[in-house]
Amino acid sequence: MARMKTAVLVSGRGSNMQAIIEAAADPSYPAEIALVISNKQNAPALALAEAAGIATHALPHKDFADRNSFDAEMTKLIAAAGCELVVLAGFMRLLSTSFCERWQDRLINIHPSLLPAFKGLDVHQRMIDAGVRFAGCTVHFVRPEMDTGPIIAQAVVPVHASDDADALAARILTQEHRIYPLAVQWIAEGRVRISGEVVRVQGVSPPEGALINPANP
Ligand code: GRF
Repeated sequence: MARMKTAVLVSGRGSNMQAIIEAAADPSYPAEIALVISNKQNAPALALAEAAGIATHALPHKDFADRNSFDAEMTKLIAAAGCELVVLAGFMRLLSTSFCERWQDRLINIHPSLLPAFKGLDVHQRMIDAGVRFAGCTVHFVRPEMDTGPIIAQAVVPVHASDDADALAARILTQEHRIYPLAVQWIAEGRVRISGEVVRVQGVSPPEGALINPANP
């Protein structure tokens, strides 16, 4: 069966992109990354993608008159590469409504919190400051408003009393690398349905039990 061609948009480190590259190294994985676009020419993610033999495109947003023309160029490249799914992986640009509509229900993002809590930037420090006992990450379909849209998968991690933002970010990132490739897989397998802005994934079941933090000694 043909693998679902996927475009990944990046701006920086690229560890989530790398997790999907590694998943796709298995020929039975149902998606493949056909194109990586970065708005930053020197993003480490671009070098990682090139090393994996993936077509890359550096597209400095400053070369464009406005957001719409930048986004339109991305759409042109993504469509020309035959991609059916667009994956945001640390892409640090807001997307225009027209881009979100063009790729509606085929555009996904990962965010390092349990949405709809802690949208936006600097989330790890904000979670620590709020004293929450659990944190996590969310893969969701993208809607024009930042960090909103139907939730596909979440992973939960405990917050430790000794955590600083870096320690918490590292614990969450490990889980990001698990759920992002899974969510892409489920979409490529055609198991993900959106109805009334709620996602149903066919053929999966919820985990058992509950966690309490702090744990009872
Ligand atoms: C991740 O924490 C992701 O949740 C957020 O941006 C970061 C990107 O990291 N959207 P990387 O570039 O994938 O390593």
